[in-house]
Amino acid sequence: MKPSDLADDLDEVLIDQETLSQRVQDLAEEIHRAHPDGDVVLIGVLKGAFMFMADLSRAVPAPVQLDFMVVSSYGYGSKSSGVVRILKDLDLDIEGREVVVVEDIIDSGLTLSWLLRTLSSRNPKSLEVCALLRKREALEVDIDPEYLGFDIPNQFVVGYGLDYAERYRNLSVIGTLSDAAQLENGRPRV
Ligand code: IMP
Ligand code: MG
Repeated sequence: MKPSDLADDLDEVLIDQETLSQRVQDLAEEIHRAHPDGDVVLIGVLKGAFMFMADLSRAVPAPVQLDFMVVSSYGYGSKSSGVVRILKDLDLDIEGREVVVVEDIIDSGLTLSWLLRTLSSRNPKSLEVCALLRKREALEVDIDPEYLGFDIPNQFVVGYGLDYAERYRNLSVIGTLSDAAQLENGRPRV
């Protein structure tokens, strides 16, 4: 779905398709340079990272292993609490492995910080983070991703995997929603 398919829902396009695609390509190359033998497990955090993971992994020039986790952090319309539940765990055993966690966005950082603690207890050889977006002003914990796409302002964004009430994940850009769209999609966001 393109911005023009969205009539009045979109307020502003923050990152267009070309910019996203170029940056994702760069990130894939960075990951590959750090793990040249390709012996890496990329762990996508669903659902938000699905599109990023698909593009990022395709741009890595080695047959890396992919796995996915589903965690729930944000309740509907609530803030991240740092209380995270695993809804789907990994299929692969990451003990002794070089692991890169692929995240859509670091907001408070609470979800990721919990996830990193959980994954490090499984004794991977290394544990790194590749985040597409970071809201620097929102960070509540100290997380410094090894690979970062973009720092963005402290605004609610949708597209390229990110949702508002499960919509807009299939938008090909990252943008902000109009107030009207936020109200129409159900309860107002807190
Ligand atoms: P955190 O725990 O506050 O860092 O937020 C973790 C999760 O909340 C992210 O992985 C996203 O799924 C979701 N989230 C945070 N900010 C946004 C946003 O601006 N748009 C859509 N989802 C978001
Ligand atoms: Mg997420």
